[in-house]
Amino acid sequence: MATTMTTTMMLMLLALSSHLLSVSAEEPKAAVSVEEGLGIDVMAAPPSGDGGDAVIEEEGEDGNMITLVGQKDNPCVGKKPLHGPEEGDEYFKNVQCIEAGVKQALEQAGANVTKGYNGEFDAGDRVPIVTSYKEAGLCPVNVHWHLGAEHLSVGQFDENGTGPTTTRRRRRSRSMLAYDDENVRLGFQCNYYNATDEKFTKPFDWKHCEGMQVGQTYEVHWPHSAAGMCGTEWQMQTPFYDGVFCKSGIISLDPLNTFQKIGVQAQVYTIVNDETYYNDNLLNGWIEYPDMDVAKYTGSTTGTTRSNEICSRFTPITWQVDRKCHMVSASSMDKLCEEMKAQKADMSDDLHAHGARELVADQFAADNHQRLH
Ligand SMILES: *[C@@H]1O[C@H](CO)[C@@H](O)[C@H](O)[C@H]1NC(C)=O
Ligand SMILES: *[C@@H]1O[C@H](CO)[C@@H](O)[C@H](O)[C@H]1NC(C)=O
Ligand SMILES: *[C@@H]1O[C@H](CO)[C@@H](O)[C@H](O)[C@H]1NC(C)=O
Repeated sequence: MATTMTTTMMLMLLALSSHLLSVSAEEPKAAVSVEEGLGIDVMAAPPSGDGGDAVIEEEGEDGNMITLVGQKDNPCVGKKPLHGPEEGDEYFKNVQCIEAGVKQALEQAGANVTKGYNGEFDAGDRVPIVTSYKEAGLCPVNVHWHLGAEHLSVGQFDENGTGPTTTRRRRRSRSMLAYDDENVRLGFQCNYYNATDEKFTKPFDWKHCEGMQVGQTYEVHWPHSAAGMCGTEWQMQTPFYDGVFCKSGIISLDPLNTFQKIGVQAQVYTIVNDETYYNDNLLNGWIEYPDMDVAKYTGSTTGTTRSNEICSRFTPITWQVDRKCHMVSASSMDKLCEEMKAQKADMSDDLHAHGARELVADQFAADNHQRLH
C-alpha cells in the first residue's frame, strides 16, 4: 500500500496561489512538502506475498485512468505528487492559466522552438540545463510520444506539414479500453510526406506499438530525472511522473532546482516503411548526430489535458528540443515498443501515441530560449 511509504520529499517550488503571484510582482518562494504515495488509488492489493498481481490505477498521460498490473514491487508507483505546501491542496492539479488577470502557473511547453524565437513569460533567473542531461546527472525515466508535434519549428514541423489523410485504425487492447482514438489531437506535421512514394504509404505489420501509422509524424519525448531509479531495472516508468519523482531528497529545497533536476528530450519523426532509416536504440534517448540544432528552454509538462486556457503546474522543467524532423523506420519504433514491453514497469499506456497539446501562446512561453547549442 502506498500509505506505508512514509518518506517526505521536500520540494522548493514557487508559490503560485493567486493572492501571492501577480504577473509583475516578484515571485515568492515557499518550502513545499510532497507526501509520497499520494495521487493513486490502490484498487486491489495482492492477498499475500505470493508474487500476486497488484492492480493499481493512476492517471495516464491523456488524463484518463490507466491500470498498471504486476507492480507490487515497483518502488516508483504512485510517486507522482498531487499535493503541495498544504495537505490536500492539490497543488499539482491543472489550473486555469489566468484567473482575474493573474497567471496561475509558471512557463509552459511545448513552445515555438524556431531559432530566434523567444516567449514573453518572464522566467526570471531560471536557466535550462544547457549541457547534456547525462552530464547534469539525469537519466531517462520514460519514453512516450504524441500524435504530430507539440513543438513548432518553422520549415520542419509547422502548420504546413502533411501526412496521411486516411483514418487510423487500431486493435482494441487492454491499455486502450478507456481511450478514444477519435479524440487524439493531431499536432504539427513534417514536410517529408509524399503520397506517391511508397515508403510513406506501405502499411507496416506492427507487432508491438498500437495504432501507429506509416507516413505520420510523431513527437517523441524522453523525460529525464536526477531522482529516477537510474541504472536499475525500475529506471523506466509509466506514467513518467512516477519515474521523475521516484527518489526522495533530490528534487529539492532551497534553491528551487526542478529545472536543473528534471529535463525532457524531444525529437520529431516521420515514420517510413524503409529499413534505410532503421535506428537500433530509441529506448534511452534521442538520435544524436553532428551539428544537432537544439532549442533549450524552461517549460512545463504537456499533453492534451493542458491548453492555453488550462495550464500545467509541473513547471519549471528543462526542455531540449531538436529543431529538425527526421525519418525513422516503422521497425525502429516497433522495436522500441518491444523493449518497452520488456521493462519491469508496466509501460502499456505509452505504446500508443498521445494527443498533442496546442502550441503554447507567447504569453505563457519562457523568455529564456537559448540560442546556444
Ligand atoms: C515561431 O517563431 C519564429 C521565429 O521567431 C517566427 O518567425 C514564427 O512566426 C513563429 N511562429 C508561430 C506560429 O508563432
Ligand atoms: C505555409 O505556406 C504558406 C503558403 O505557401 C506560406 O505563405 C507560409 O509562409 C507557410 N508557413 C510556414 C510557417 O512556412
Ligand atoms: C514523390 O515521390 C515520387 C516517387 O518516388 C517522386 O517521383 C516524386 O519526385 C516525389 N515528389 C516530391 C515532391 O518529392
